[in-house]
Amino acid sequence: MHLKKLTVKNFRNYYNNTFEFCNSYNFITGANGTGKSNILEAVSVLSNIKSFRNASDRAMIKQYESYYYINGVVAEDTFENVFEAAFQNKDKIKKKYKINNSKVDRLIDYYGKFITVNLSPTDTDLIIGEPEKKRRYIDSVISKIDKEYFKKICEYKRILNNRNTILKSGIVHLKNIQVWNELLAEKSSYIIKKREKFLNDILDLFANNYQKISNENDSVSIKYRPSVTGETTADILNQIENNQQRDKRYKTTTLGPHRDSYSIKYRGVDCSLYASNGQLRSLSIALKLAEKNIVEENLNKKAVILIDDIFSELDRLRRHNLIRLMKNQNQVLFTVPTVEDLSISDLADSTILNLDK
Ligand SMILES: Nc1ncnc2c1ncn2[C@@H]1O[C@H](COP(=O)(O)OP(=O)(O)OP(=O)(O)O)[C@@H](O)[C@H]1O
Ligand SMILES: [Mg+2]
Repeated sequence: MHLKKLTVKNFRNYYNNTFEFCNSYNFITGANGTGKSNILEAVSVLSNIKSFRNASDRAMIKQYESYYYINGVVAEDTFENVFEAAFQNKDKIKKKYKINNSKVDRLIDYYGKFITVNLSPTDTDLIIGEPEKKRRYIDSVISKIDKEYFKKICEYKRILNNRNTILKSGIVHLKNIQVWNELLAEKSSYIIKKREKFLNDILDLFANNYQKISNENDSVSIKYRPSVTGETTADILNQIENNQQRDKRYKTTTLGPHRDSYSIKYRGVDCSLYASNGQLRSLSIALKLAEKNIVEENLNKKAVILIDDIFSELDRLRRHNLIRLMKNQNQVLFTVPTVEDLSISDLADSTILNLDK
């Protein structure tokens, strides 16, 4: 699939603008603050519901305005789909989505239809960052390819909230949380298995992409670090029950998939210890490209790739490798201050959108 046309109204620094893109490489250039990343952000909201910068909807509305609106015409094979996203912050906060002019009420029916993969400077958090960011990332990717997982994660969060509300109120009898323990164990067992499988599936793709970007044969690995372990729901329930006194003391649920993480090793050592900035950047690109591989394989569609500002930390070889990796396969929107650093062959058949003019 590829994004042919994007219209943004009252989005960030844009009042009412339309941009057209070619189906291969598009370089968005301009001085700092001209609105390059804002264009990619609008595409990410249209595709993923959330901003890749993790900004609130309110922050994305143009200053002094009360709503934003995004419209994208996406071509797929021989047909076109129109995706729309709007957020209003007037009387009541409202976020709406439409596909081909029909309102989509449930996020689950919207998410994963227009697929994008975004690469941005904060991706190194997925290699060495906080467990919460890592969890949110794998949940968002698995949810894109597996609707059942999407549902189960939402249910898990609801159950966890209910259990935590009781714990926070300072319970006297543990039997008050018994029913929630059982529900939690059941969902946990499902989530852990799915996460384990996903990280297993992504490992070879990740290692392979890393080699292609860096021309290095160094070993890289991903290890899932679940908070509770066990083959069966009963095993997990057992651990949750054994931990109840601690939960009571801390007034929150201290064990479960909401505390999971994964670690990434480079040459057998945890990346947070030795990896250089450029290596971390290449590892995060390799991970995002593995996401692209998995999503495309499962949904049988080509993703649109959004690459924000990550070129500056790559040497010439890695830059060239990255460009070559997706050429003739995907539509890519890059933001770069200028195209002067890029070689003629890297720029062949691409469109340049200069925001300075
Ligand atoms: N809600 C908003 N309303 C109005 N303007 C905004 C809003 N949010 C951001 N901006 C403006 O958007 C501009 C930043 O846009 P963006 O982050 O896309 O820049 P950029 O071209 O990617 O810059 P850089 O090269 O530094 O990454 C700034 O001028 C900022 O003031
Ligand atoms: Mg930017």
